[in-house]
Amino acid sequence: MMRIDPEPLLTAGQIAARVSELAAEIRRDLADDRPVVLGVLKGAAFFTADLARALGMDAEVEFIRARSYSGTESGGRVEVFGLDRLSLAGRTVLLVEDIVDTGTTLAALLAGLHAAGAATVRVCALLDKPSRRKTPVTPDYAGFVVENRFVVGYGLDYEERFRTLPEIHVLA
Ligand code: IMP
Repeated sequence: MMRIDPEPLLTAGQIAARVSELAAEIRRDLADDRPVVLGVLKGAAFFTADLARALGMDAEVEFIRARSYSGTESGGRVEVFGLDRLSLAGRTVLLVEDIVDTGTTLAALLAGLHAAGAATVRVCALLDKPSRRKTPVTPDYAGFVVENRFVVGYGLDYEERFRTLPEIHVLA
């Protein structure tokens, strides 16, 4: 039976405040580009919805799905769904991720977006766990840097549980 630390690591208020700050930064950088805000399901679903609203700019919202098979040690294989039905050639894409951990997923997504012909790709991750990196990728915008601990809530799950928590907790 998996449990969470009762005390949140990040409260809903802290997350909301940081989302506003990230949105302001992104708005300054991408205002002229009518970006495609591209959320990665399922973990970034709630973050994408909140960030897209906070942007307050002319933007489109799309979602793709990434699934990783953590088979090998040097980063598992990543399968990306839904990219083929989007027209991203020449577009500015703001890729929205829940967390960058080993970086394997983000590296695969970036390769996919470049193959799809995106003109500019910026990455916004709610959480960044740089201590776990195996592939050298860095989000352009990161909400919070977290220690090497497994976190859940605000979209992040452990075996499909805890996604709907409004705040972020460490798995006990
Ligand atoms: P990466 O490919 O190792 O960077 O892993 C990225 C994906 O693994 C994220 O998009 C999450 O879905 C999942 N993940 C990594 N760390 C955590 C965590 O602490 N909590 C929940 N999901 C995580």
